[in-house]
Amino acid sequence: MKQGVNRLYNDLAWLWPYWGDVEEYRRESELFAELIKQHAQIEVRSLLDMGCGGGKNAFHLKKHFEVTGIDISEPMLSLAKKLNPECTFLIEDMRKFNLSRQFDSVFINDSVTYMITKEDLLKAFRSAYMHLRAGGVMITYPDHCKDTFRQNKTEVSTSKTDTMVITFIENNYDPVPDDDTYESVFIFLIRENGELRIEHDFHVCGLFTLDVWRALLQKAGFEVHEESWGEGAEGLPVFACVK
Ligand SMILES: C[S@@+](CC[C@H](N)C(=O)[O-])C[C@H]1O[C@@H](n2cnc3c(N)ncnc32)[C@H](O)[C@@H]1O
Repeated sequence: MKQGVNRLYNDLAWLWPYWGDVEEYRRESELFAELIKQHAQIEVRSLLDMGCGGGKNAFHLKKHFEVTGIDISEPMLSLAKKLNPECTFLIEDMRKFNLSRQFDSVFINDSVTYMITKEDLLKAFRSAYMHLRAGGVMITYPDHCKDTFRQNKTEVSTSKTDTMVITFIENNYDPVPDDDTYESVFIFLIRENGELRIEHDFHVCGLFTLDVWRALLQKAGFEVHEESWGEGAEGLPVFACVK
């Protein structure tokens, strides 16, 4: 990996537990579990979490399913294992892996944003299909889409520990609207015992239209259902995809 790129999943992975408490993942994880049960045509016991990161979603999903997580980053997998010692975690690239087994459900969360070409997005969906039992459900969703992308959107949040105050600044910018990517830039203000340290990070993320998502999910073989994030939600759907 290039220096200064995807640091949040490498040398700065220690920041991940402070960026959004694990409790913040409860509501969405409960929705994903509910959608899986609602659409499944088989009994669902197992779940494969593709791009499981630090295991915050897995922390809630494991109450419903036996969770196996894969991720491309060893530091993120270490965090996931610490949070979920009873689950299985493996280092794999979601575009090309074969666990030689199938699961009753598959979940591809915000990690799918790192599929930056249509070919890679299709590869991830094909991996999901291959690892899913017939009648099982795959849940995925876009964080951002070309249809609704907000140029230069900046979000700020803060986290405190006994010795640290960390301010997270995230800026999303699309320098070339005609291509299939946007840039996500992070600045971390880390005040430890009053001393300031500033770190920055750069991520390239995929940006496709909803129609491209629909077409690729169908091309991978799924029957595609579009669900809402729930009361008060607007905009992008959650895809519940049946094999
Ligand atoms: C935002 S984090 C996911 C956090 C996760 N939702 C959680 O609950 O902690 C995105 C993850 O996608 C992973 N990722 C990016 N590209 C990947 C790939 N090709 N295969 C597998 N994982 C990938 C990164 O290593 C990172 O851990």
